[in-house]
Amino acid sequence: MNHIYRSKKVVKKSRMKKVFFIFTLILFATAVTIFIVYWPNISKNEQQVLKPSKVRIGFAMGTLKEERWFKDRDILIAKAHERGYEVEWVNANENDVEQINQVKYLLSKNINILIIVPNNYEKCSSAINLAKKRGIKVISYDRLVKNSDIDVYVSFNNYKVGELMAKWLLKTVPRGNYVFLLGDPGDYNVQMIKEGYHKVLDSFIQKKQINNILEKYCYNWRKEYAYNYVNNLLEEGKRIDAVLASNDSLAEGAIMALSEKRLAGSVPVTGQDADISACQRIVKGTQLMTVYKPIDKLVDLTLDIVDKLIKNKPLKPTSMLNNGYKNVPTFFIDPIGVDKSNINDTVIKDNFHTWDEVYITK
Ligand code: BGC
Repeated sequence: MNHIYRSKKVVKKSRMKKVFFIFTLILFATAVTIFIVYWPNISKNEQQVLKPSKVRIGFAMGTLKEERWFKDRDILIAKAHERGYEVEWVNANENDVEQINQVKYLLSKNINILIIVPNNYEKCSSAINLAKKRGIKVISYDRLVKNSDIDVYVSFNNYKVGELMAKWLLKTVPRGNYVFLLGDPGDYNVQMIKEGYHKVLDSFIQKKQINNILEKYCYNWRKEYAYNYVNNLLEEGKRIDAVLASNDSLAEGAIMALSEKRLAGSVPVTGQDADISACQRIVKGTQLMTVYKPIDKLVDLTLDIVDKLIKNKPLKPTSMLNNGYKNVPTFFIDPIGVDKSNINDTVIKDNFHTWDEVYITK
């Protein structure tokens, strides 16, 4: 009896062993199947988190007020896509606090590189610090960020922009009363333009061949300031022989005031950007010149720099410029002075605007 009981116990034990063995086998087989089926996806997802297959560019714009900035945005997005990059873009609408918040937003979107057009050359530096803390490289696009650890500054040579304006005016009006309409004081390009035209004109100003009758900033590049400055001088009975307006918006304001006194076309006015309305004024004869800056060249250069920064390849800057914090690798493109005589061979030839757009005004 005892023997029988014991042998039953042995049989039960060996059955349990078998069940346990089969259960373990099934468990193992399931684990192996799951591993084979799902592992490639798991590892792919991990790779995406660690190493994005697509580079994501954050483009933080200070403004879209001027026509040119739409070109910058559209061309940059299109050309970046051609290179397989993604672009997240934002526009701070000339608001410094907004620009900082927008950079934070871009960082939350896991951008790999930041391209920034500062609204104010200093006030956005805390945003740059945030990006740098995360190891994100920063390109200062068209406008310089001062006192900040930016990696690259890429722009048109803004000193030359000022020089071109001054040279054009000097050729046309070698002596007389000059008015200087500067852009926003928080845009460092304005300081460079100012330096550029003073370099050309100072000796003539010292000789009193040229009288500087007004030199003022136009906040946020608003044409209303330009209009008021010129209008007030004319109302005071002052004679104006030339107006150095720092961009085409300011030129428009100045020309509006001149035209109200029937002086449009007889007082030479400069500009910058080759806006369509400025090009039309040039061929019509109410604006002397504009400084043309081919945006697609700036974009190509910027994306070449993005390529290099992403791949950690060495850069070959045209110069080094001290921004108050460090010597920044700087890439400058030469701007082009455009008037009636060369507009066909520059702006129109490049298809920046078509012949119809420039010559056939509605
Ligand atoms: C740019 C000009 C532009 C101006 C106003 C400057 O920083 O260089 O092209 O007209 O800003 O937006």
